[in-house]
Amino acid sequence: MQTNVVKQLNDAMQTVMRTAREQVLAKMGNKLTVAEKTSRRDLVTNVDHSNEDFLISQIRQLDPTAHILAEEGTGDRVTSMAGHVWIVDPIDGTMNFVHQRNHFAMMVGFYVDGEPTLGYIYDVMANKLYAGGPQLGVTLNGEPMKSPADADLADGLFGASAPLLIQDRFNMQAVVAASLGPRIMGSAGIQISQVLAGELIAYLSYLRPWDFAAGRVLAETLGLVVTTLDGSPVDMLSSGAVLIATKRAQRSILAIV
Ligand code: IPD
Ligand code: CA
Ligand code: CA
Ligand code: CA
Repeated sequence: MQTNVVKQLNDAMQTVMRTAREQVLAKMGNKLTVAEKTSRRDLVTNVDHSNEDFLISQIRQLDPTAHILAEEGTGDRVTSMAGHVWIVDPIDGTMNFVHQRNHFAMMVGFYVDGEPTLGYIYDVMANKLYAGGPQLGVTLNGEPMKSPADADLADGLFGASAPLLIQDRFNMQAVVAASLGPRIMGSAGIQISQVLAGELIAYLSYLRPWDFAAGRVLAETLGLVVTTLDGSPVDMLSSGAVLIATKRAQRSILAIV
């Protein structure tokens, strides 16, 4: 896509994300309706649904012929990354949203023929909007971000996932032991934003497309790497273990997992 078109879309999407945040904050003043999806640890609320509906309606206005993949199911059945594909996670960290009223994000990723094009991670309560893509760079609340230092695993905090660490999947306890220590937030979006900001050297979790679509765009734009655990490119339409890391930390982690 032409850079001026991407820039216009980015300006419009940042406004959409800010409006979505205002709506979510307003709804947090009312009692939430909480339902279990597959288990008591897998929740969805009325706000996940209403925010997904809002984001989809806004994206459809901006890009009427695009395909939209969204977590709570009101998007399209997307089976290919051809053309314009938007991937939406309306509330990332629903468990935190319900139990902490804090530490949750909204995320949108935009791909053109499979190419990462625009990404948004909005840490709602901290009011931090990470936005941009390869043609524009990444901004945090409108201010350009620098690439984080290419620090190694031994020199940084490692963003872990609680189930993987407890079960020691992918040798995660050894990865943690080689780092300065683990940090766990319960929101992929917030942990990925911490990698963007250089607060973590990596984040490793079992993720679904909407958990990493936005983060991949932003991370790769800042010179970070996003791969599976054999170092191959991620497939945007499958779920699996995804590593977002500095280049040096990625090499060290792949040697341990
Ligand atoms: C979840 C969060 C969590 C991660 C899970 C995700 P959701 O997203 O990002 O941190 O460990 O794998 O499903 O369901 O709250 O949007
Ligand atoms: Ca969910
Ligand atoms: Ca999510
Ligand atoms: Ca979600």
